[in-house]
Amino acid sequence: MLVLNRIAAGISLLLAICGPASAQQSPATLEIIELWRLSGHADAASASFTHWEGEAEVPANCATCHSGEGFRSSYGIDGSAKGEVSHPIVPGGVIDCATCHEPGVSEIASVRFPSGLEIDPPAGSATCMTCHQGRQSGINVASAIQEVPDHEVNPELGFINPHYAVAAATLYGSEVKGGYEYPGRTYSGRFAHVPTFSTCIDCHDPHSTQVQVGTCTGCHQVADLTAIRTSAADFDGDGNVTSGIHAEIAALHAKLHDAISHYAANVAGTPITYADRFPYYFVGNAELTPANRYASWTPALLRAAYNYQFIAKDHGAYAHNPHYALQLLHDSIADLAQASGLNIELGERP
Ligand code: HEC
Ligand code: HEC
Ligand code: HEC
Ligand code: HEC
Ligand code: HEC
Repeated sequence: MLVLNRIAAGISLLLAICGPASAQQSPATLEIIELWRLSGHADAASASFTHWEGEAEVPANCATCHSGEGFRSSYGIDGSAKGEVSHPIVPGGVIDCATCHEPGVSEIASVRFPSGLEIDPPAGSATCMTCHQGRQSGINVASAIQEVPDHEVNPELGFINPHYAVAAATLYGSEVKGGYEYPGRTYSGRFAHVPTFSTCIDCHDPHSTQVQVGTCTGCHQVADLTAIRTSAADFDGDGNVTSGIHAEIAALHAKLHDAISHYAANVAGTPITYADRFPYYFVGNAELTPANRYASWTPALLRAAYNYQFIAKDHGAYAHNPHYALQLLHDSIADLAQASGLNIELGERP
């Protein structure tokens, strides 16, 4: 019932956008509604929207990204104060049509990232960039570890989770510092790609959220996006320079996993296990429960574990900013391998 109400709300918004002449919905418009209805943005049953079920409200620091109503409030588009969610958001909302189409949304001139750095969003992408930027930054990680020697276990340290689907932070790379960047190293900024395929909605349909694969194949003659490759160097040290760039990133990601395990056991002194469930890093072979979360962090382990999760939580990193991803992985592996005496084959750093 709730979902039906939302679709009705979508249609009435559409009337507001297009005027009463479109009371007879055109097939194109019905198709848009259908694309959106089948997308994650409309999936009221997903953990992204049910997380607050039974609670009175979605906390203000979550609501901006977990409901259209919260998004509008945080930008002051609903007439409330700008810069915060200023009224209680009742759980159950999704990313509705008005999230992106309410008058005022197209005037958002600046998007602030968790690092505090700001970006002028390209037309139509301020919405995506606000919600898909994560909740942490490499700068936050650096400030959490600054007082502690690199390889000293400190009980005050805890894992810092970048949050999920952090595409915009990857895309803008060093311009917004979503990843932990090692001192003395240089990192790629925004992935320029080609001018016609450089923004979120150049590659993703804004309603289905799917990548418009047919538009890629004009330049990349591949059957599968993960096979795309234009970079010439061998980044993962396996001698293969024809596999997709996706495979180079995946191989280095797996090597970082190994480097984290080796370092934890040999330098931090407590074995570690990663699992794709909160809180992600667990003690050795213990049961995967929050009570068994890993607690023997050194600064070096924490920053590498952050970068590992940053790449893990952007399934499109290979297309959002392949070289930034490779740089973060290279530097994280090298840092841990050196400290723990692990011999890992690393290819060229981009
Ligand atoms: C108000 C916040 C918000 C805005 C604005 C937003 N998204 Fe999302 N997006 C989400 C949330 C929350 C999810 C997860 C939905 C779910 O779990 O069902 C999501 C899911 C996605 C997914 C699927 C990811 C997955 O893991 O299944 C893609 C792709 C996506 N969004 C792209 C975009 C693009 C492109 C835009 C801009 C046109 C955009 N989003 C705007 C919050 C937002
Ligand atoms: C900057 C935007 C943003 C903020 C703020 C935010 N989230 Fe999210 N969150 C997202 C996006 C985007 C996703 C969707 C990830 C995906 O597609 O799997 C997500 C996913 C989730 C999920 C589902 C995780 C999963 O594994 O499927 C939970 C639970 C969640 N967020 C909790 C929270 C809580 C609690 C807060 C507030 C303390 C919060 N979020 C604040 C953007 C945000
Ligand atoms: C996550 C953001 C987002 C959401 C949610 C969203 N739209 Fe859109 N919509 C866009 C963007 C961005 C464009 C502009 C696309 C472009 O310029 O290629 C657009 C374009 C449109 C258009 C014009 C189509 C065209 O071909 O020019 C219509 C009509 C529309 N949306 C209706 C809706 C309806 C109805 C809903 C809810 C069922 C909805 N939108 C939900 C982002 C969104
Ligand atoms: C060069 C094209 C391109 C651009 C630009 C782009 N993406 Fe992607 N995106 C992709 C590809 C390719 C994938 C992987 C798709 C897949 O696996 O289905 C992806 C994956 C994603 C995912 C994860 C989907 C999932 O199922 O887990 C999200 C979320 C996302 N993109 C959001 C965005 C946002 C937000 C922007 C703008 C900041 C953006 N993308 C810009 C191509 C692009
Ligand atoms: C107009 C031609 C063109 C189109 C269309 C195009 N690309 Fe590209 N793509 C390029 C060029 C040129 C490069 C090299 C850019 C660079 O290295 O800076 C590239 C690089 C890439 C890379 C990085 C490969 C590597 O080895 O580093 C990925 C991934 C990618 N494109 C994905 C996509 C996706 C996904 C689409 C469709 C949504 C797409 N491209 C559409 C021209 C295009």
